[in-house]
Amino acid sequence: MSGFSSKNLTFVVLIATLVWFSSTQTCYATRSKHWRHSRSAFGSMYKKKGKHHGEGQHQVIVDKSEPKHPLLPLEEPQAPPHEGSRFNVLDYGAKGDGISDDTKAFQAAWEDACKVEASTMIVPLGYKFLVGPTSFSGSHCRKNVHFQLDGTILAPTNPEAWSSGLDQWIEFTKLVGFTIKGKGTLDGRGSVWWTKSILDSIDNEELVRLNNFTKTEDLQALRFVEGANVTVTGITIRNSPQFHLTFDNCDGVLVHNCNISSPSDSPNTDGIHLHKSKNVIIHNTDLACGDDCISIQTGCTNVLVHDVNCGPGHGISIGSLGFDGTTSCVSNITVRDINMHDTMTGVRIKTWQGGAGLVKNVLFSNIQVSEVKSPIMIDQYYCDHSNCKNLTSAVSITNIVYKSIRGTYTVQPVHLACSDNKPCMDLVLSNIQLKPKPKDQQMYKPFCWKAFGKYSILYGFFPFDAVESLLPQSACSTSEGTKFVLAHMFDSSKQSRVYQIGRTLTV
Ligand SMILES: *[C@@H]1O[C@H](CO)[C@@H](O)[C@H](O)[C@H]1NC(C)=O
Ligand SMILES: *[C@@H]1O[C@H](CO)[C@@H](O)[C@H](O)[C@H]1NC(C)=O
Ligand SMILES: *[C@@H]1O[C@H](CO)[C@@H](O)[C@H](O)[C@H]1NC(C)=O
Ligand SMILES: *[C@@H]1O[C@H](CO)[C@@H](O)[C@H](O)[C@H]1NC(C)=O
Ligand SMILES: *[C@@H]1O[C@H](CO)[C@@H](O)[C@H](O)[C@H]1NC(C)=O
Repeated sequence: MSGFSSKNLTFVVLIATLVWFSSTQTCYATRSKHWRHSRSAFGSMYKKKGKHHGEGQHQVIVDKSEPKHPLLPLEEPQAPPHEGSRFNVLDYGAKGDGISDDTKAFQAAWEDACKVEASTMIVPLGYKFLVGPTSFSGSHCRKNVHFQLDGTILAPTNPEAWSSGLDQWIEFTKLVGFTIKGKGTLDGRGSVWWTKSILDSIDNEELVRLNNFTKTEDLQALRFVEGANVTVTGITIRNSPQFHLTFDNCDGVLVHNCNISSPSDSPNTDGIHLHKSKNVIIHNTDLACGDDCISIQTGCTNVLVHDVNCGPGHGISIGSLGFDGTTSCVSNITVRDINMHDTMTGVRIKTWQGGAGLVKNVLFSNIQVSEVKSPIMIDQYYCDHSNCKNLTSAVSITNIVYKSIRGTYTVQPVHLACSDNKPCMDLVLSNIQLKPKPKDQQMYKPFCWKAFGKYSILYGFFPFDAVESLLPQSACSTSEGTKFVLAHMFDSSKQSRVYQIGRTLTV
């Protein structure tokens, strides 16, 4: 481990500790529903000794930008693999015929690849590998391992194959500087999971016993746990049983040029799910799925999402937060330059009644919506079943900026339902231009409750009455209209006047 001295480690731990304390002074998550220690071991793995170094004979893709190493002579199979070595799953017995179970070959290749700094594990083009739920543990791995995915990896379709105690398909844990890249595909073949009858038919009791598996413990196609500086680029992830790409307790995440998709009617198929992760950048990625395109959960901070296409799906959401009285914190989130088409919501913050904590410093900017049901939504009364109790405490929401949200909606342009006891504070709505595009659904007026903040400019086809729009309370109280209104809410000298949207605070 010469490349990673204990001095460096101390530094990293110190920084991590400082960051942790600074972000948790007033607010920390008291409970994690998603994080559990990985239990999967490589107990049954086998190795093909002597072939694990050098260029695999089946290798199809050669990355010319990386240093090439000559084949080591076969007489010296015990020579240690060196930095930059390549490990092809075909050399470990993977068949790649889409039928044979290649799980053990993948585990064996991983075991060798991860021991070598900056090595590359190769999943070659032109093959389909059937791999069961697997945890690629990184706790004993070197830094900067690459997973070159050019072929296709198929998930098993029989639910029994999933009852190993894992609730994800492919998991990578505790890796530093790890990259998964290539033009390949992870195909979760999840359609069998999308019907209730199949979910009922699996041995749920066993899953519950092993893993506290519940409906909220969603099955995930690709999951990173406790990663530092992990990158996912180029690949396609499709048809996950539920969530497609999840980051849990990661610091330093980069996702770009990926394609994540499943049908619009597939339940709980979130595109990217972030949980307790920080310093995250997601860009130039296409997301189409049956649930949130991106969902930002408790414990996330410093997240930047830009140049992303979303739809179909449920939009980009922060939350749900504060479930069952938990404390949730989310801060410093920027979502900009987004195209949304045919989504349920656009940009949404949802919290349960009874929670605690804070959502603060969020910017939604330049969001182009087309036929989105509800482009702008804050719901502090989130409830996914019919009878949620009315509770007084709530996750606070403050300093949320909506800037240039434009396009068409099909149900309601703005829905701001804030808590009676913890009203939303410092909301800024600027340059909101939303035009109704009626479909079969009922249309609703904008709704605002206990939302405080300021407008700078609201205009376009936003359904305000021209006269009433001169008064602050008109934002949510006017009748539905499609009149073109250039409603500069205040003249320039009064632009920062504070009022409650929906009810006058200061006149
Ligand atoms: C399952 O839940 C119970 C009670 O909530 C808890 O005590 C136990 O540690 C959990 N088991 C696992 C494996 O997470
Ligand atoms: C992650 O990357 C950043 C920026 O390159 C670097 O400063 C940091 O040390 C890296 N973290 C780890 C754990 O390697
Ligand atoms: C993304 O993947 C889906 C399904 O594999 C495909 O239909 C779609 O064309 C891809 N999108 C892009 C932009 O490559
Ligand atoms: C907020 O996140 C952005 C990345 O989106 C980062 O550049 C910035 O430094 C963060 N700000 C704070 C105060 O942490
Ligand atoms: C909660 O409060 C709302 C608004 O006051 C009311 O309409 C609703 O019936 C209440 N729900 C319960 C379960 O008490």
